Amino acid sequence: MGSYTEEPQFKTITVKEVHPTFAAEIEGVDWKNLSEEQFNEIFAALAKYGVVMFRNTGLDDASHVEFSRRIGDLDTMRRYMTNGRTPRYEFYELFDAGNIDDQGGVLDPNSPRAHYGKGNQLFHVDSSFNPRRASYSLLRAVELPPLGNGGNTDFADSRTAWDDLDPEFQNELLKQDYVVNHSIAQSRKQGSPEFFKDLDPTNGGQMSRHKLIQKHEASGRMNIYIAAHSHSIEGLPKEQSDALLKKLLDHVTQSKYVYSSEWRNVSDMVIWDNRCTLHRANGGAYEGKFRRDLRRTTVHDTSPTAWGLNKVITNTEEWVVNHNATAAAGNTQVSVKA
Ligand code: OGA
Ligand code: MN
Repeated sequence: MGSYTEEPQFKTITVKEVHPTFAAEIEGVDWKNLSEEQFNEIFAALAKYGVVMFRNTGLDDASHVEFSRRIGDLDTMRRYMTNGRTPRYEFYELFDAGNIDDQGGVLDPNSPRAHYGKGNQLFHVDSSFNPRRASYSLLRAVELPPLGNGGNTDFADSRTAWDDLDPEFQNELLKQDYVVNHSIAQSRKQGSPEFFKDLDPTNGGQMSRHKLIQKHEASGRMNIYIAAHSHSIEGLPKEQSDALLKKLLDHVTQSKYVYSSEWRNVSDMVIWDNRCTLHRANGGAYEGKFRRDLRRTTVHDTSPTAWGLNKVITNTEEWVVNHNATAAAGNTQVSVKA
């Protein structure tokens, strides 16, 4: 997707703002026969709002994947299909963000797989730990817990959070031009410290390197690219690095920058831009009780900073599956959520 720095005009869709600074719900999409014009309007809305929710899309696995392919190259599950693992879905492009166990029941919150997923409840961006980061994620509801049992997806507006920083602090960050190391092990450890007590993100695992402060190409606005996967800032002593990452994550995820999006119907779908927003699974009473089946496609970024400072490895099957074989046995598809 290109850039949309001008104020968008919407002719084929209705865009309803749901938060003072970002996020919208879009109505009027013809999912069965989506015109080029409508497609472009959706992505103009995404450039501006960062997160867009569509109700009752009627999409199924095949049409979800088909629509996603129209956006760009998709990440796939292929590299995780080692050691006899079999894909959960017909489409390798679908990532499981739900809580269904291998027998079709509700995942036990104390199971190893649940622990692997706990980092998902911390604010993050998808795939910052991969050599090539993700641009858009498209998450669709297949089965939802009864309303009132939690399970929202929360989003944070990291562009406005940047805008609101003290200009002196902004200048300092721009001058330092920090590079952050991202690791899936970092968010796992934060998400379930006891379970992952022996997991050390610095112990041979892959770190992916991305600039902390970046221009979001699609909107021309500046963004703080930070996530629960952010392990360390290069060149800073650990204490300083930890403190600055915490300060910025705390800043970005203040409630005034957060929108909590409620899932209401099967086939609701939300698209977010990982390059200008963070998100998390909110959790809730449904955990351990009700099935929540959400499936995600993930689009490879094509912006100038897609690869950050990482070595370009275009065959994603060669990407390292980080810390896949750590303490917990029974990990099936869980390494791939965030
Ligand atoms: C994801 C994710 C959050 C949720 O699919 O990338 O973080 O609410 N999901 O399930
Ligand atoms: Mn995620």
